[in-house]
Amino acid sequence: MTNKDLTEKEYTDFCRFLEQHCGIVLGNSKQYLVRSRLAPLMSEYKCESLSQLVKKAMELRERALRAVVIDAMTTNETLWFRDKYPFEVLTQRLLPEFADLKRPLKIWSAASSSGQEPYSIAMTCLEFKEKNPGMLKYGFDILATDISTSMLEHCNKGEYDNLALARGLSPERKRKFFNPSSTNCFSVKPEVKKHVKFKQFNLLDSFNVLGRFDIIFCRNVLIYFSPEVKRQIFANFAKVANKDGYLMLGASESINGLTDEFTMNRCKAGIVYQANK
Ligand SMILES: C[S@@+](CC[C@H](N)C(=O)[O-])C[C@H]1O[C@@H](n2cnc3c(N)ncnc32)[C@H](O)[C@@H]1O
Repeated sequence: MTNKDLTEKEYTDFCRFLEQHCGIVLGNSKQYLVRSRLAPLMSEYKCESLSQLVKKAMELRERALRAVVIDAMTTNETLWFRDKYPFEVLTQRLLPEFADLKRPLKIWSAASSSGQEPYSIAMTCLEFKEKNPGMLKYGFDILATDISTSMLEHCNKGEYDNLALARGLSPERKRKFFNPSSTNCFSVKPEVKKHVKFKQFNLLDSFNVLGRFDIIFCRNVLIYFSPEVKRQIFANFAKVANKDGYLMLGASESINGLTDEFTMNRCKAGIVYQANK
């Protein structure tokens, strides 16, 4: 693999462009990553070189190509019940606290990728309601957002092959919450799906359009952002969090030195942050 298609200046310009549009900080010497993610787009967009493709994507009028390039540069890795502990914290601590709510519980999965996170949250809430009849009487709504429209299409379809399902989903949950669809594929049952709404949303944009939430999951995306961008996003989370609302981050992420609008709560299963409201 060679980097000959992108000069140092082109690479630096592309890094700046990427950070401006989606927050991702590429860092030094990641030309190989740009090449491996973007080279497959060259023929589709009739570009003879990587530098031509990158230049075109950075032109203001090329909105569609820009979205495709940003989509290709994001990491969509995810799995069912990822890291286990957030879902244990949800069951053992957060859902019991909200159990007597006189309105639907509002949950936001803020970088939902292909849907495993919001659907795992929905399954956890359904299991909780089943074990605790009369609790969460007014139900729960989950908003799943991501910058990537292709990921959101995947979420919305709610169909997964056996390979994707094998990553974190137990056979019991597969039987309980999925219906067989096409060959080797299973669809999320309507009673799970009806709790999840999808919306394309860039975490760098204004949060005014979103409403308020009791629980925000934002996991494994802030690691790609600069401290300044994280600070801004935490400030925005604090604005859209309800009183006593919670923020769940990824296992390697923290609020340390970035916000004092949330307090760390150490539960038996793991860490969750609570809004200081
Ligand atoms: C690694 S996945 C994490 C998925 C899930 N939260 C999890 O922990 O398994 C990161 C997701 O963040 C999304 N993303 C990246 N930049 C974003 C931005 N600026 N706004 C919203 N979503 C973004 C990507 O499209 C990708 O689907």
